[in-house]
Amino acid sequence: MEIICSTEQPEKMVCDAIVVGISQDGVLADSIKNVDAALDGYASKLIKNKEFIAEFGSLKSITTLGKLPCKLVLLVGLGKKDALSLESLRKLQALSIKVLREANAKEIVSALSLVQISNTTISQRTNAVSEGAILGLYDFKQFKNIEKDKQKNVNRLVLLCGESEKKDCEAAIKNAQTICSAVTMVRHLVDLPSNIATPAYVVEQSEKLKSSFDVKVLGKNELEKLGCLALLAVSQGSVLEPKLVILEYGDKKQKPIAFVGKGVTFDSGGVNLKPTGYCETMKCDMAGAATVLGIFKAVSDLKLPVHIVGAMPLCENMISGSSYRPGDIIKGFNGKTMEIANTDAEGRVILSDALSYVDKNYSPKAIIDLATLTGACVSALGSHAAGLMGSDAQLLKDIEEAGTAVHERVWQLPMWEEYLDMVKSDIADVRNTGKPDRHAGAITGAAFLKNFVTVPWAHLDVAGTAYLDEPFWYMPKGGTGWGVRLFVEYLRTLK
Ligand code: BES
Ligand code: ZN
Ligand code: ZN
Repeated sequence: MEIICSTEQPEKMVCDAIVVGISQDGVLADSIKNVDAALDGYASKLIKNKEFIAEFGSLKSITTLGKLPCKLVLLVGLGKKDALSLESLRKLQALSIKVLREANAKEIVSALSLVQISNTTISQRTNAVSEGAILGLYDFKQFKNIEKDKQKNVNRLVLLCGESEKKDCEAAIKNAQTICSAVTMVRHLVDLPSNIATPAYVVEQSEKLKSSFDVKVLGKNELEKLGCLALLAVSQGSVLEPKLVILEYGDKKQKPIAFVGKGVTFDSGGVNLKPTGYCETMKCDMAGAATVLGIFKAVSDLKLPVHIVGAMPLCENMISGSSYRPGDIIKGFNGKTMEIANTDAEGRVILSDALSYVDKNYSPKAIIDLATLTGACVSALGSHAAGLMGSDAQLLKDIEEAGTAVHERVWQLPMWEEYLDMVKSDIADVRNTGKPDRHAGAITGAAFLKNFVTVPWAHLDVAGTAYLDEPFWYMPKGGTGWGVRLFVEYLRTLK
């Protein structure tokens, strides 16, 4: 879909549909008064007669019957004016473009970026509307045979703006397209099933981006030589070879910020096998790694002046005669020993090697890891926030602020000494589950990871946000690409 901005008057535009926001106070914005007039005041009559109550997300489509060059006007309820935010625009643009695609509209004009929202600029609103449109239209249909003439695609979205705003709005559209293309890549990688998105496949996709940043791939032999025995242990029940992919972008003279992402391409639970109902969606368990790759794609496409390192430990957690076992003790890359209390707590085990590898070899300013780590985090926060834990108050605050700014929100959980003690083992340095069993599951996951970092560190448990069972506004069912927008914002605002 092409997105452009235009200074034309909406009542003169030839298109399939015009999207118009109506606030609950019923006052029509100046920009669409002429549209209403061309319809002989039909829109304002609907509002006056309460046939259209402009509650947030309500829709009413009006066929123009030749009174306007455009075929249809879609009224979108904005709800209460003072509750409006950039997030409202993302949601409403996604909602309306999905409805219009279903109605087979190809050329759409949206007046939503003209909606007045306090403390926002037209370029921020244009960015949000573009994001809502692109992210809202994402679908994962490549494996469905759909006849060509039944495919529905929007070809063009035109966003309205003033003459003096055009340059800024064009830049905002370009920005949204660049970031959303990375988000889309992440969603697609997460949505691909585990028989396709194997560790080797993720490596291949990373190598496709080699012209934008460095990609180094460590295979089984190198991992053995390096002593990454934790990653090897988790993967030993699978016929697929594990990989550790290291990414690097930017000015190597600065100390980097490092991103580490859990890349379990399928999590069966291993010997502590997941029951039916719990493993069907476990192709999502590489979302952390996919997000790291997405961050690199966005940051390099935007040419941000930062130095970042990425690490993606990739493997499957399978059950077989060669699987690692509950009770095993493993010594990983940094020399600490870990007791495997539960083979289903595998994410933290592979992350231990990736974190300590990056910590030792790059001495980063900070390490940020993203992982679909615990069901406990989903129980605590659902899918509206990721769990945030870590060791550095300023780093956590900066991540929180960036998340709030782009509406990818995080919620901090405590990391008190008592929690750190919960992952101590009687027979090794650490245990991969906390004691008592099931207490503070998200925090004990982080408490385990803390043993493998020495620099300022933040852990995001994205088990609830990375993958959805039901679509939500501009988030699809399946992979969401959550985190790319947050960390682009974080890196852009980094002091
Ligand atoms: N990949 C899962 C966590 C998960 C759950 C991700 C739901 C996405 C949605 C992880 O490897 C896991 O199984 N964690 C265990 C840890 C427990 C054994 C300490 C869990 O959450 O039950
Ligand atoms: Zn697991
Ligand atoms: Zn897992």
